[in-house]
Amino acid sequence: MGPQGFCRTRFTAADHYSAHCKPMLMQKRKRPTVMVRAGFVESLIKPITTLGKMPDLKSGIAAFYDESSELWEKMWGEHMHHGYYPKGAPPKSNQQAQVDMIEESLKVAGVSAVRNMVDVGCGIGGSSRYLSRKFGCRSNGITLSPKQAARATAISQAEGFGDKLSFQVADALAQPFESGSFDLVWSMESGEHMPDKRRFVSELARVCVPGGVVIVVTWCHRVLAPGEEALRPEEAALLDRICEAYYLPAWCSVADYKQLFEGNGLVDIQTRDWSEEVSPFWGAVIATALTSEGVTGLLRAGWTTIKGALVMPLMAEGFRRGLIKFNVITGRKSAAPL
Ligand SMILES: C[S@@+](CC[C@H](N)C(=O)[O-])C[C@H]1O[C@@H](n2cnc3c(N)ncnc32)[C@H](O)[C@@H]1O
Repeated sequence: MGPQGFCRTRFTAADHYSAHCKPMLMQKRKRPTVMVRAGFVESLIKPITTLGKMPDLKSGIAAFYDESSELWEKMWGEHMHHGYYPKGAPPKSNQQAQVDMIEESLKVAGVSAVRNMVDVGCGIGGSSRYLSRKFGCRSNGITLSPKQAARATAISQAEGFGDKLSFQVADALAQPFESGSFDLVWSMESGEHMPDKRRFVSELARVCVPGGVVIVVTWCHRVLAPGEEALRPEEAALLDRICEAYYLPAWCSVADYKQLFEGNGLVDIQTRDWSEEVSPFWGAVIATALTSEGVTGLLRAGWTTIKGALVMPLMAEGFRRGLIKFNVITGRKSAAPL
């Protein structure tokens, strides 16, 4: 076990990050066919991505989203997360797939009404606006990126949400909210950035009102087999490269999250593995990053964004190998005292 008890690999970039880059829009749905020839892409990427590390995790993530969010919004719109593309369903746009991801996540948790939510790692506020429209709820969004907080506020004001929605720079590991404040605690693809998963889940549970719901949608590594102590060295090496390029801290498995939910008084816990359902995503972003608009946008955005784009094939490879998982974990805070 690692420093937080969940580090399965040798995370050389554990103290740094610039976050993951999920760039470029692809309008037409396409299953990815990206394969990485063993060692070849890695050998190209390593010397490039190790340049320009940020001094620490939080400032790295803030700088990454400050730099890349405008391009992302231009190409993809207001949601900065994977889409949900179930096999056999009719083709849909990436934007619809992203909205479907939100809807499917709500279904897993059985959420049918929300009054007051927190959007943990809110990006430019896409989830908050969508959920506020759907439920009429209030939302407080937090992000590490000052530019995201400002943009989330500007869009929400322009769209007439008034004081229903507010966005600020704050750390998910030390949330500026009273305990028991929210009936929905929402974390859409921010958990992978958290260097202390234990603290992360305990903060999610703390700010949730008794009887309220916590939803975490996040990247995980595969669940270890019985008797397995750690990921295989070649798996650890692949994740190391991704962490190095995106400055992500240690990953954990969905089983680790389940344990943390249980340990924090969350009940009715549900988990899902949607690795298959999100599989078109990385192929789509890679294909569009290679268009002239994508390449120009990346060059304009800057080095941190380019660095993330260079590692996208490794994300596709991680999913293909069954090493990287896309998981949903939901739970309800027990109404009884712990
Ligand atoms: C991939 S974006 C997802 C944005 C948004 N949830 C969405 O789906 O559109 C990840 C977000 O997590 C935020 N984040 C990462 N680490 C954080 C932390 N420690 N505290 C607060 N926000 C964090 C980033 O600032 C960014 O807004």
